[in-house]
Amino acid sequence: MGSCKFSMFSFLCLIIILFVVYGEEISPQLVKERISLLSFKSDVVLDPEGALESWNSSGIHVCNWTGVKCNNASDRVVQLDLSGLSLRGRISPVLANLSSLLVLDLSRNFFEGHIPAELGDLLQLRQLSLSWNLLGGNIPEELGFLHQLVYLDLGNNRLAGDIPAPLFCNGSSSLQYMDLSNNSLTGKIPLNNECKLGALRFLLLWSNRLVGRVPRALSNSSNLEWLDLESNMLSGELPSEIVRKMPKLQFLYLSYNDFVSHDGNTNLEPFFASLVNSSNLQELELAGNNLLGEIPPIIGDLSTNCVQIHLEENILYGSIPSSISNLVNLTLLNLSSNLLNGTIPPELCRMGKLERVYLSNNSLSGEIPAALANISHLGLLDLSKNKLTGSIPDSFAYLSQLRRLFLYENQLSGTIPPSLGQCVNLEILDLSSNDISGTIPSEVAGLRSLKLYLNLSRNHLHGPLPLELSKMDMVLAIDLSSNNLSGTIPPQLGSCIALEYLNLSGNVLEGLLPATIGQLPYLKELDVSSNQLSGNIPQSIEESPTFKHLNFSFNKFSGNISNKGAFSSLTIDSFRGNDGLCGEIKGMPNCQRRNAHLSFILPVLLSLFATPLLCMFAYPLVLRLRFRRQMVILNGGDLGDEDKETKDLKHPRISYRELIEATGGFSASSLIGSGQFGHVYKGVLQDNTRIAVKVLDSKATGEISGSFKRECQVLKRAKHRNLIKIITICSKPDFKAFVLPLMSNGSLEGHLYPSHGLNTGLDLIQLVSICNDVAQGVAYLHHYSPVRVVHCDLKPSNILLDEDMTALVADFGIARLIKGADDSNSTDDSVFLSSSDGLLCGSVGYIAPGQIVSETILTKKLWSQSKSNRDAKEGRKHSIETILETDFICNVL
Ligand SMILES: *[C@@H]1O[C@H](CO)[C@@H](O)[C@H](O)[C@H]1NC(C)=O
Ligand SMILES: *[C@@H]1O[C@H](CO)[C@@H](O)[C@H](O)[C@H]1NC(C)=O
Ligand SMILES: *[C@@H]1O[C@H](CO)[C@@H](O)[C@H](O)[C@H]1NC(C)=O
Ligand SMILES: *[C@@H]1O[C@H](CO)[C@@H](O)[C@H](O)[C@H]1NC(C)=O
Ligand SMILES: *[C@@H]1O[C@H](CO)[C@@H](O)[C@H](O)[C@H]1NC(C)=O
Ligand SMILES: *[C@@H]1O[C@H](CO)[C@@H](O)[C@H](O)[C@H]1NC(C)=O
Ligand SMILES: *[C@@H]1O[C@H](CO)[C@@H](O)[C@H](O)[C@H]1NC(C)=O
Ligand SMILES: *[C@@H]1O[C@H](CO)[C@@H](O)[C@H](O)[C@H]1NC(C)=O
Ligand SMILES: *[C@@H]1O[C@H](CO)[C@@H](O)[C@H](O)[C@H]1NC(C)=O
Repeated sequence: MGSCKFSMFSFLCLIIILFVVYGEEISPQLVKERISLLSFKSDVVLDPEGALESWNSSGIHVCNWTGVKCNNASDRVVQLDLSGLSLRGRISPVLANLSSLLVLDLSRNFFEGHIPAELGDLLQLRQLSLSWNLLGGNIPEELGFLHQLVYLDLGNNRLAGDIPAPLFCNGSSSLQYMDLSNNSLTGKIPLNNECKLGALRFLLLWSNRLVGRVPRALSNSSNLEWLDLESNMLSGELPSEIVRKMPKLQFLYLSYNDFVSHDGNTNLEPFFASLVNSSNLQELELAGNNLLGEIPPIIGDLSTNCVQIHLEENILYGSIPSSISNLVNLTLLNLSSNLLNGTIPPELCRMGKLERVYLSNNSLSGEIPAALANISHLGLLDLSKNKLTGSIPDSFAYLSQLRRLFLYENQLSGTIPPSLGQCVNLEILDLSSNDISGTIPSEVAGLRSLKLYLNLSRNHLHGPLPLELSKMDMVLAIDLSSNNLSGTIPPQLGSCIALEYLNLSGNVLEGLLPATIGQLPYLKELDVSSNQLSGNIPQSIEESPTFKHLNFSFNKFSGNISNKGAFSSLTIDSFRGNDGLCGEIKGMPNCQRRNAHLSFILPVLLSLFATPLLCMFAYPLVLRLRFRRQMVILNGGDLGDEDKETKDLKHPRISYRELIEATGGFSASSLIGSGQFGHVYKGVLQDNTRIAVKVLDSKATGEISGSFKRECQVLKRAKHRNLIKIITICSKPDFKAFVLPLMSNGSLEGHLYPSHGLNTGLDLIQLVSICNDVAQGVAYLHHYSPVRVVHCDLKPSNILLDEDMTALVADFGIARLIKGADDSNSTDDSVFLSSSDGLLCGSVGYIAPGQIVSETILTKKLWSQSKSNRDAKEGRKHSIETILETDFICNVL
């Protein structure tokens, strides 16, 4: 019998299935719902991903339309999920006819207009997600009819007006998740004693304009795990009676409201006591509330699961209770911007998982406990703006994870411990405005890891600028101003190629301002005022396209200042107090014509003197024609040549078409050479400029790295009279070429082998002079160019000769552009910088994975503070500038 019943049942099922699958007709109800959906679609004005293309009345079955799900019988639509499809338009009220809908998710689109009140008819609805749209107007109180609702998310819209009371009170008793955050909602949280939100686990109301107290009735929601009321205008005493009833609380965010502490804003103990039983508490945020009182020792009785505590920007006074060290799982402690006094409790070091400690902007005194160095995970330590004395502990050397160390504006004395140089992950070191003396230890100056900034300004440091500073090739800002630093500015500072801000003012530096500073490709601000610098201001600075703020005042500079280039926007204020300066800046004395010859003779004499020495070394190499992969290392090459260079060659746009025209379609008759990387064609542009076009071989271009453009930009900045200038670069996906000026005397190879076509051999003097030129060009590449470049393909055919037989090195850096090419057999790997190594792209990486610290560079105060990972995720009113300047550098190119 049983089996008969069973087969009967299967048979019926089969009939139904066959009907559904093969039947031409669909159920009348579904026909209606299909019409409703099509009507909804007609209000979607933009569907960039074509998500709704499958929605039409012929073709695909409605239950198979994108985002649509039906019930098992395929006669009702039960789910409509169109999240994240970039749809634009209005939400049609016709959705209300999908009466069996359980899930409606339109989040992360561009829906605008109002939330249709008709949605309140969807009585079956379990989940309603309209977050991350552009919805405005009020929340319709009809949503209060949705008694089955479990999940309601209207966050990140432009909703305004009061929260309708029925939403909280008539609404669903099974509601677990309510998110109205980041809108413009006003009024009170409408919750009274009749309301039942017993199932509520998540209540997110942050970033609105809610006022009044946290309603008592919320204490009936004893299942709350996540209560986020941050960034509103809520007032009254901290809601201790409410949170006391929430033993499951994990995240409690009350920051940036107008809460006060108990007993007339004097006592924080009752509030912390009310949290002691919340044994799952992980994050507690009370920042920015004007809370007055001491941090009660009972804070140490909070759950040991606590990982973050934010009490910053209040009026907390007294000392930091050492009991806080019971919170052994804490990773972030922020007590900054209060009135805390006393010493930093050494017990903090028991909190071995601490990653970020902010105690800045208080009145903490005493010495920095050396024991802090036991916190092995410490990545950020901010003790700035206190009254700390004594010296910087030597033990900080053990903080191998330390990325950011802020000790500025204290009364620290002593010297900078050289052991800080062992903090090899340090990105920011700010010791400014203290009483630190001694010299800058070379170990610290050599911290290659510093990718953001070094600020040692306003101390009593003396001695020279360490040459090791040149190793900081990722640092964005260096401020050594207002110390007693002496000696000259080393030209090697030109190796700090990422530098955007350099302040050396208020020291006793003397000598010349090196031309390499002007060649720093990203430098925007340079302040060398109030030193004893002399000589000319290098031409390279005037020619730099990046400079915005320059200050040369109160030095001993001399010479003629134009009002062109970088100087065109400057006023006399940038040049004051330099008696020897004259020129065209308003307020500056006019220049008398001087004898310009003198300034030429010296370099010429020098180079004549140097030539024989150089060539004793290099001449045999020329003869043996074994230039290839020889590293000609030469210290202190002639750098003054930029001065002779005419105006910075603008890099004109030359189209692929123009190149074809110029070279007769890359015809064989214009082919003038071939090399490892491709062919070279000669051509004449329409303006009669004679050019050589070096077309990279398609075999090679296949491997050209993605960073081609960026690297080319840098190579274009490698300017020297003995390097061939790159006029421009033509880059298409399948075609990459360099456009160079055509050299009238061809290559050295042609002269060494007259049979190759050119007539003349070379005499000894010419060879010597050529080899001097080559050595200088190569030395520049190795030591002074914006990126250090190893040629890897130096040979006579790559040495070109202009009209007056000056030798110019060509093809430098091409090896760099081609992935893998010559990497392995480069003779000197320590000099060779791979593309990833030589350039910046500071990583945002912070200690704990997934924690993105977002910050913005400011040059005076330099940096604003970072906020927690959650802020990066959800954001808060404290402005989050997500553009990290280092990323920016990489992107602009
Ligand atoms: C939706 O339902 C209402 C009332 O049942 C009806 O008047 C209306 O025409 C329906 N709309 C569509 C598009 O089916
Ligand atoms: C309906 O959609 C199907 C599949 O996307 C398509 O082949 C058909 O042409 C469409 N019909 C209409 C009338 O748009
Ligand atoms: C939906 O499409 C699948 C295959 O893509 C098909 O097997 C199924 O029968 C379709 N459902 C309906 C209701 O048409
Ligand atoms: C629908 O079918 C699934 C399996 O395909 C089953 O798990 C579920 O219980 C069914 N639901 C109803 C309401 O029949
Ligand atoms: C909410 O409940 C009150 C009384 O409990 C009732 O008067 C009101 O009409 C209801 N409103 C909604 C939208 O359900
Ligand atoms: C909510 O809690 C208050 C006391 O805080 C109580 O008077 C009220 O009856 C509770 N309401 C419900 C619906 O349980
Ligand atoms: C610290 O946190 C971990 C993970 O949350 C937990 O397993 C451990 O018990 C906590 N330690 C203490 C002392 O509570
Ligand atoms: C800290 O400040 C309080 C007053 O707010 C004062 O009574 C106390 O002596 C101070 N303690 C120290 C160590 O300065
Ligand atoms: C708040 O919502 C706006 C859109 O209204 C969005 O642009 C912004 O990113 C949101 N803020 C956060 C922190 O999520």
